[in-house]
Amino acid sequence: MGNPHFLALLLISALFIVLSHFHGGLAMAAHTTGTKDGSELWGYVQVRPRAHMFWWYYRSPFRAQNPNKPWPIILWLQGGPGASGVGIGNFEEVGPLDTSLNPRNSTWLRKADLLFVDNPVGTGYSFVEDKELLVNTDDEAARDLTRLLIAIFNRNKTLQKSPLYIVAESYGGKYAVTLGLSALKAIKAGKLNLILGGIVLGDSWISPVDFVASWGPLLKDVSRINNSGLKISNSLVEEIKQHIANGEMKEATKTWSFLERVITYTSNDVDFYNFLLDSGSIHEPVTAAEQSRKFANKRYSRYLESLRFSAGAKEGDIHTLMNGVIRKKLGIIPKHLEWRDESQIVFDYSEVDFMRPRIDEVDMLLKAGVNVTIYNGQLDLICSTKGTEAWVEKLKWEGLKTFLKMDRSPLYCGNDKRTRGFTKSYKNLQFFWILDAGHFVPVDQPCVSLDMVGNITRSPMTS
Ligand SMILES: *[C@@H]1O[C@H](CO)[C@@H](O)[C@H](O)[C@H]1NC(C)=O
Ligand SMILES: *[C@@H]1O[C@H](CO)[C@@H](O)[C@H](O)[C@H]1NC(C)=O
Ligand SMILES: *[C@@H]1O[C@H](CO)[C@@H](O)[C@H](O)[C@H]1NC(C)=O
Ligand SMILES: *[C@@H]1O[C@H](CO)[C@@H](O)[C@H](O)[C@H]1NC(C)=O
Ligand SMILES: *[C@@H]1O[C@H](CO)[C@@H](O)[C@H](O)[C@H]1NC(C)=O
Repeated sequence: MGNPHFLALLLISALFIVLSHFHGGLAMAAHTTGTKDGSELWGYVQVRPRAHMFWWYYRSPFRAQNPNKPWPIILWLQGGPGASGVGIGNFEEVGPLDTSLNPRNSTWLRKADLLFVDNPVGTGYSFVEDKELLVNTDDEAARDLTRLLIAIFNRNKTLQKSPLYIVAESYGGKYAVTLGLSALKAIKAGKLNLILGGIVLGDSWISPVDFVASWGPLLKDVSRINNSGLKISNSLVEEIKQHIANGEMKEATKTWSFLERVITYTSNDVDFYNFLLDSGSIHEPVTAAEQSRKFANKRYSRYLESLRFSAGAKEGDIHTLMNGVIRKKLGIIPKHLEWRDESQIVFDYSEVDFMRPRIDEVDMLLKAGVNVTIYNGQLDLICSTKGTEAWVEKLKWEGLKTFLKMDRSPLYCGNDKRTRGFTKSYKNLQFFWILDAGHFVPVDQPCVSLDMVGNITRSPMTS
């Protein structure tokens, strides 16, 4: 990892960590440990018998006291389904350290505490003792996450003082809205002690049909496919719509997968996470560890790995990190478990809900008065801004007409006069358009993302 100072620190903290052995039995409902100074906590929560969810909390070293503004906590929900938030979101996007264990200047800890989770069970360090315990639906995942929040928050008065903002990326958006509703219900029933600050949907897969329908026209407009490509794409979108109308959800997912391949072919390998890029050209695996692993098609986090490699890094392979020094530090990861960035089986078990829209859930949150923020990267293809705008227009929310008519304000960052994006808000809905960013907005535009998340969470540390 090439950072002897940090390794020494890790070693010292490892010595002080309260190490205890992992028990998979029913008696073990929750299992928490952490660093001695309390700045990091992590553990397993048994969300259902023999289904174990891993979480990792970081207390911000940038905390500021402000009696009018409580210090916020961000729960980060990764996509996939089956991509590890504890690995990808933490070390590749917004956590305090990067995959070479160097400090990340733009970490969201500057604005809030961070809570990462490997969701749904079966993802990352989370695991099930029988694969029939994997979740099939967004609602099942939301119920598990609610149990996790109960286990973490109900016994900690300090955490209860911080409003929780659920910030999602990609497929995580569907979990964010179902969790938001489930958490709200648990709070009202007196079963969950926390303040729900808001729901934040970053490039989120809220309405799959609107996204797939945007791909062809968008790529045609930017010269990436020709008319015949557009025609095939549009016909497959019709097929997907038909499947969904007939309730054939698995078939809809299969046609989606086929459409992705058709788009890849007709565009000569466009990158779904940034349509200005080729997927192949920056995706050369370099290390031996990389080459020895079998890559799943269109793996979600490949984009992030390849950014690192194309920047010239020879180290910082996330698999080596998560199965090596990090697992040693955590001390409670079961021996048999191999950390992977994305779980194929978790994805496969989710295939029935994969193409199901969650627009109604967004409406329910808005109606319940929950603050909902949407942000989208301009260059994202998979969850394009065009698709996001299309589903927003389908909301039944009473404020929608006014929201759509309103003007946007430009966004800048620091002393830079370049336009970084636009925003508008009305009542409890806010939208951020982030320029020159693909799917992974915090990675592509760290400066404006950090400002944005500070503003959304009403952090005492707003710039
Ligand atoms: C509660 O959370 C704080 C971090 O805000 C931590 O320092 C403390 O150890 C936690 N308490 C328990 C009992 O987990
Ligand atoms: C680190 O972030 C701070 C504040 O966000 C900024 O002022 C500074 O220029 C950044 N430093 C580097 C090296 O990017
Ligand atoms: C929700 O948004 C409104 C309007 O922007 C704001 O006044 C309120 O403080 C926000 N609530 C939370 C919990 O952030
Ligand atoms: C359109 O694009 C496809 C896929 O790249 C190609 O095979 C086909 O020849 C093109 N058709 C025309 C008319 O350019
Ligand atoms: C955050 O809020 C500040 C102060 O209101 C504003 O100047 C800035 O443009 C906002 N930035 C973003 C990214 O929302």
